[in-house]
Amino acid sequence: MGVLSVKDLQANMVLAEDLKDRSGRLLMTKGTVLTEKYLKICRMWGVIEAHVEGISSDEINVSALIDRDSVKIAAAKEAVHKRFFDDEADHPATRELARLCILRMAEGKKNDGDHGAEGRWTEKEIVAFEKEKPLNINPVTFINEDTKLSTLPDIYRHILDAISKPNSSAYDIENVISKDTNLAARLLKIVNSAFYGYPSRIDTLSRAVNIVGIKQLSTLAIGVNVICMFNNIPPEIVNMKMFWKHSVLCGICARILAGYKNIQNTERMFVIGLLHDIGRLVLYNYLTRESLYAVTTARNNRQPLYLAERDLFGLDHAAIGGLLLTKWQMPMSLEDTVQNHHSPLKANNRVESSIAHIADIIANAMGIGTSGETHVPQMNREAWTQLGLTPNIFSLTMEQADRQLEDVFELFYADDRSPQRK
Ligand SMILES: [Fe+2]
Ligand SMILES: [Fe+2]
Repeated sequence: MGVLSVKDLQANMVLAEDLKDRSGRLLMTKGTVLTEKYLKICRMWGVIEAHVEGISSDEINVSALIDRDSVKIAAAKEAVHKRFFDDEADHPATRELARLCILRMAEGKKNDGDHGAEGRWTEKEIVAFEKEKPLNINPVTFINEDTKLSTLPDIYRHILDAISKPNSSAYDIENVISKDTNLAARLLKIVNSAFYGYPSRIDTLSRAVNIVGIKQLSTLAIGVNVICMFNNIPPEIVNMKMFWKHSVLCGICARILAGYKNIQNTERMFVIGLLHDIGRLVLYNYLTRESLYAVTTARNNRQPLYLAERDLFGLDHAAIGGLLLTKWQMPMSLEDTVQNHHSPLKANNRVESSIAHIADIIANAMGIGTSGETHVPQMNREAWTQLGLTPNIFSLTMEQADRQLEDVFELFYADDRSPQRK
């Protein structure tokens, strides 16, 4: 008997245990012989995996690797193992993640998550920086003192005001959003994209508010234009396209995982993913050389970047991001989740923070986009256990994310983007 991912289930396999949907409802009993009809039901009800007779997931996993070109697999294995920390190999979840990354790479799936010049300092540059390394750097002062950074555009204030009033109606929200035609158009595009996959077209903002929901659409509206706020960092410092690609991918993965945990406002999880590394942009923007030094040392010492940041600044990008969101008076404690995405068990909302944590790991493992991290961040094992997910969730999440990414990314990021400040 073995546990198989839903995508590995085939007709004529026999269930070794009762099969239930995500809410615990019985779908099929032990002993059921799977047919095409049953396989369709599994997909329809979001089944992640099933216990079947006579075959194990290891056999499926090994045969998936054997089927591929062995030279390609060997090269992919070497590249992937360099990106994972050594002590991760003994955990079933990270082992499965690494296996999927090897398959993706051997299949030639796009992997553009490597840095350009940033973080590739020469020995001479490192020594020169260390000699003159400034002491007592405090990134928090920039958040407090730069009004450009600490003030959100008016449109956010109006949206936040509208959703904070208990008697706000769909009409109030629609009224606020429609004042910014660019924002309204982007939201409509998102609602009509693969992000939602609605079968029929939604043409008006009022229909979008009614179908998607007031809170959900407002949360998306807040996330949409934050992307425009850091468009002045030179490309030789940070590749903004790669940065936002990582962020959008993390948001998509967080939203998919939230769906598996039956969280209602999954848009909120998307925005958390979108903003999770925003503290890095504060660092790149105001402490450029120091940030690149941190990227270099993390790469050279095989260390997570947030630890290199703590060594240098006394706090990491997650803490800085949390402070920025507090300054922006973001609703619904987004800052708690962002601040703890590398230490999810310290968060007030452990479930959301753990989802953001795992989503970030998946996004880094997929190697699409980057926010500066060279390695796949280590998984907090207790957070993984408490979340109660199974390793089979990774392949389903990656496949869904692959289908959505390009479409959603284009909607959030455009090369001709301009700040929406009014
Ligand atoms: Fe991070
Ligand atoms: Fe990240």
